[in-house]
Amino acid sequence: MVENYKLYIDGKWINSESEETFPSLNPANPKDVVGKFQLGNENDVEKAVDAADKAFKKWSKTPAPKRGLILLKAAQMLRERKEELARLLTREMGKVINEARGDIQESIDMTEYMAGEGRRLFGYTTPSELKDKFCMSIRLPIGICGLITPWNFPFAIPSWKITPALICGDTIIFKPSSDTPLCATKFVEILEKVGVPKGVLNLVTGPGEATGMPMIRNEKIRAISFTGHRDTGKTILKEAGLKKVGLELGGKNGIIVMDDADLNLALDGVIWGGYGTTGQRCTAASRVIVHEKIKEKFEKILVNRIKKLKLGNGLNPKTDVGPLINKAAQEKSKSYVDIGLDEGAKLLVGGKIPKMNGFFFEPTLFTNCSIDMRISQEEIFGPIVSLIPVKNFDETIEAMNSVEYGLSSSIYTKDMRNAFLAIQQIEAGITYINSSTIGAEVHLPFGGVKHTGIGTREGGWTGIEEFSEIKTVYVDYSGKLQKAQIDLE
Ligand code: UN1
Repeated sequence: MVENYKLYIDGKWINSESEETFPSLNPANPKDVVGKFQLGNENDVEKAVDAADKAFKKWSKTPAPKRGLILLKAAQMLRERKEELARLLTREMGKVINEARGDIQESIDMTEYMAGEGRRLFGYTTPSELKDKFCMSIRLPIGICGLITPWNFPFAIPSWKITPALICGDTIIFKPSSDTPLCATKFVEILEKVGVPKGVLNLVTGPGEATGMPMIRNEKIRAISFTGHRDTGKTILKEAGLKKVGLELGGKNGIIVMDDADLNLALDGVIWGGYGTTGQRCTAASRVIVHEKIKEKFEKILVNRIKKLKLGNGLNPKTDVGPLINKAAQEKSKSYVDIGLDEGAKLLVGGKIPKMNGFFFEPTLFTNCSIDMRISQEEIFGPIVSLIPVKNFDETIEAMNSVEYGLSSSIYTKDMRNAFLAIQQIEAGITYINSSTIGAEVHLPFGGVKHTGIGTREGGWTGIEEFSEIKTVYVDYSGKLQKAQIDLE
């Protein structure tokens, strides 16, 4: 029996007004229907906004440390249920089990971190230019926030948005990707169980056009935070009107391997960055920029390592690479292999849809890629890596910065000067030295430059900035009218 899941609005689990559902499938075995979910629509969004509006009054006045206690309980429950949730995540999204555990752990870490922020939520104080006057800034909630999340980190990314919004005193309409509604439902169930009051967190599942767009256009929603495709991000920016908008729109991240690099370390980094999560990370290393002096040796070992990667169901602990999320993703990867071949890149390994049940794709490596090829420029979100040979350090930076995106980046070198030049010159929100392009920790800013977004950083203190407003306060206790900029004595 396939279970029928509901929307969560105003503290109740209810059907959509559409009276229609959609299935969520196991990408390693699409005959396995993980659950049926409500095909939400504009009326459901409307209801959720009314509930969030009503709940805001009380929730925004609840002391932040008290809101933090609820989050601490949620972190505890996530920890207790980590293994069960990781297995469910693998079933719904395909990620190998160890990475699924990492996804849940990231949500535990973020929830704990944001719980602690309830006892900080700092503003600052500073001297006034006038006598007997006090200046400070304080943090206030924004109001109703619309949170739209992708499927590739179905616990971690919702936690990046939901937990800071909750600690700041906002209320929420949460619209998860239609590829992972079960993970989203489980996360909301936990927050309900630990005592998030009714109306504070509302879950609306369904397609972007029918649920996401009405959220983006709704004037009562004060902020939208979105992680997903760049084209959707552009539409959001156009349609959102006067709202605070946070966008994280992916990357075309590169790893630089200099001629003095520790090659084994760099190879580990390329395998993990390029093929981990089947290349379906915003931070995936989809370009490897290699110094020509070591290119041949590096390629040879890399191809051997790629050939050893075992495709399969993520629940099997021997599996290295799980499936892609759905059929469209599989077809997209295939089409980029054709594009790469047409462009004259050399296919060293992979490139095919294997004869397997499920949406698998062979780990693929192209070499002799130039920086302007589409396979070196566009985000594929699959297990396809482009190797770009370069002659010297300056060319590595030029290649790295040749893309429109700017999320994550990495350089392998033993030369401190090159490492520091890379830190300064790479146009990206994140640079790793001697480590792969993935591995963000929750207490540091996460986000990017250029077409990766509009400067928003999630996580850490910047996550609080995304979900709160600043109020500047002047307290004049001089007992007389003092004029800034005019009373100069
Ligand atoms: C993403 O791919 O959107 O650093 C998020 C990392 C993970 C988060 C990735 N912790 O790769």
